Amino acid sequence: MGVVRQLRQVDADPAGIDTAFRADVRAGLSDARQKAVPARWLYDTTGSALFEDITALPEYYPTRSESELLKRYAAAIAEAAGPGRAVVELGSGSATKTPLLLAAIDPAAYIPVDISGDFLRDSAAALAARFPGLAIYPVEADFTQRVALPREIAGLPKLGFFPGSTIGNMVAATAVDLLRDWRAALGEGALLLIGIDRIKDARVLEAAYDDPAGVTGAFNLNLLERINRELDGDIPVENFAHRALWNDGEARIEMHLVAACDMAFRVGGRRYRMAKGETIHSENSHKYGPRDASLLLRAGGWTPRMTWDDVDPAFALILAEAAEERVAP
Ligand code: AVI
Repeated sequence: MGVVRQLRQVDADPAGIDTAFRADVRAGLSDARQKAVPARWLYDTTGSALFEDITALPEYYPTRSESELLKRYAAAIAEAAGPGRAVVELGSGSATKTPLLLAAIDPAAYIPVDISGDFLRDSAAALAARFPGLAIYPVEADFTQRVALPREIAGLPKLGFFPGSTIGNMVAATAVDLLRDWRAALGEGALLLIGIDRIKDARVLEAAYDDPAGVTGAFNLNLLERINRELDGDIPVENFAHRALWNDGEARIEMHLVAACDMAFRVGGRRYRMAKGETIHSENSHKYGPRDASLLLRAGGWTPRMTWDDVDPAFALILAEAAEERVAP
């Protein structure tokens, strides 16, 4: 079968500038309390490649821990999911863990959904070569917005695959909205296999997000370079530093871009000021204990059925089932 066709659902204005990116940057740099840009804008082609490098760092354990769980529990996952499902992967990126899942279960189709069109094309082609009998329908779209799934999979039971603890990059309210939207999109009888990172020693967490080789720093700073490139900016990137800190009250790692001096810059014709020490908050990575993760999923319309989390550093792979629409009281 191979790659059937690539659907595109990205909103761009006639000049090719992503209108949503511009709106988020304008709003985020204008916020007097805390400047912030949503983390999804970290992933242009350069950012996506840098993130792939992060996943290979010795300090960045989530990819290793999750892959270990996928390998160790492949047979149990296959037994629980059963054959013939359409696997819908949210934010597939380079889809490095996907072969572990596709080889374990016997899927009817694979639908990678990702905002980065180039990455999607390459990873879909690589998977088509590896699984020649599998129908692949790539969808170029922002999986945090409503996504129309290909007509061809309408009648198939679905398995949502949301690895990497990407759910942790959303605040709880947004995570619940996303889970509910995908509960509706995947339909009755759907399953969700989701990776969720655990709370652990702050030193382990901070090292994972501030590696000595500076790869995570480059990933964070690329956001400013992307703004300059795509939104006609003159931000002095050399005057910013990467910072990652554990916020215990919010149970999350925060990434910031810290201004090393007072400065002024322009983006798309608008002028912004920053004081020395002021930051642009660029990412949250929330971590969850077992009960927190369960509550998050239930609030999002999914009932956890199985949890695999016996790895070190700790990470959880949870198989959940689409819940009844509403169970009283
Ligand atoms: C994609 N996401 C789950 C990563 C994380 O761990 O929150 C993004 C990341 N940011 C810095 N390092 C990795």
